[in-house]
Amino acid sequence: MSRLRARIIGTGSHLPEKRLTNHDLARMVDTSDEWIFSRTGIRERRIAAEGEYTSDLAAQAGRNAIQAAGIDAATIDLILVATTTPDLIFPSTASIVQHKLGLSHTRMPAFDVQAVCAGFMHALSVADQFIRAGSCWRVLVIGAETASRIIDWNDRGTCILFGDGAGAVLLEAELDGERGLLSTHLHADGSQIDLLLTDGGISRGPAPGGGMGVIRMQGNEVFKQAVKAMESCVDETLAANQISKEQVDWLVPHQANIRIIQGTAKRLGMPMERVAVTVDRHGNTSAASVPLALDEVVRDGRIQAGQRVMMVAFGGGFTWGSALVRW
Ligand SMILES: CC(C)(COP(=O)(O)OP(=O)(O)OC[C@H]1O[C@@H](n2cnc3c(N)ncnc32)[C@H](O)[C@@H]1OP(=O)(O)O)[C@@H](O)C(=O)NCCC(=O)NCCS
Repeated sequence: MSRLRARIIGTGSHLPEKRLTNHDLARMVDTSDEWIFSRTGIRERRIAAEGEYTSDLAAQAGRNAIQAAGIDAATIDLILVATTTPDLIFPSTASIVQHKLGLSHTRMPAFDVQAVCAGFMHALSVADQFIRAGSCWRVLVIGAETASRIIDWNDRGTCILFGDGAGAVLLEAELDGERGLLSTHLHADGSQIDLLLTDGGISRGPAPGGGMGVIRMQGNEVFKQAVKAMESCVDETLAANQISKEQVDWLVPHQANIRIIQGTAKRLGMPMERVAVTVDRHGNTSAASVPLALDEVVRDGRIQAGQRVMMVAFGGGFTWGSALVRW
């Protein structure tokens, strides 16, 4: 029986110009480069300029993916944007991105997916379902954030962790192809929202200090949950594909903390040379982190055709998910 599979035919990313180093942060809160680097692996992160929005980063990452794929952008059937930091409450950032890409005349659907740091895995899985069902031929999936806009710059437990950026993949349906998305796996557990959330919003009203709210996190607890969830997702993905960990060539994990990444790599018995790491330069870019890291290892030629690539992420909600791709 014939089947459709989603193949990644192009990747792209985009980062704001401005770098915020650990030394810069040490002048803002009681911390040090040594503390931040030893606990998280982060040296610096990028911060969007005033007037630079999530949709700007997303659109540029999208353009780069379209260019890498070498296709006519008007042939895209669907745009998905995973973000926790949309330009506005509405319309969706995906609608704004569609327009910024000059594609509104196509009337293609465009919508956002919200699963915080696991947002890209969720959007990728949604795109995969559309392609497998035969509803879409080409889908642009973007993860983009301006996390800096929801940071309490006086909270040393969170302001050191996050950064801004965007990454994208262009998927194309292929009939009976060997390459592409082999499986995706998504999970949520809404019972522990107090461990990682924003302290204000829309229906609940503004934060105590006013405004849309900032990230509040019990870092220690989140750390433990993240390690557990990412490890179990890796196991689930191996089992679903009936492969052993030795058959995975690359790990592209969510970039929250180098120690979480090392834990996941250990579960796969994966040497760190086979793990995409950008956390040192980007910090945690939430929904953008996996596609940003993927774009880096694709563009510098480290990932080769035919290799198996495992992507896995964990975020607020809690939400977590993975995907296995044959490149
Ligand atoms: C945030 C994180 C780096 C903190 O590291 P940790 O080893 O767990 O540190 P703790 O939170 O236990 O705090 C230990 C001490 O360091 C202090 N501390 C916290 N942030 C600090 C900073 N930036 N600089 C210096 N000291 C800091 C704390 O106040 C605490 O001091 P105390 O012992 O006097 O109370 C770590 O918990 C983490 O990475 N968690 C996961 C976060 C994450 O991935 N979130 C997103 C998931 S998508």
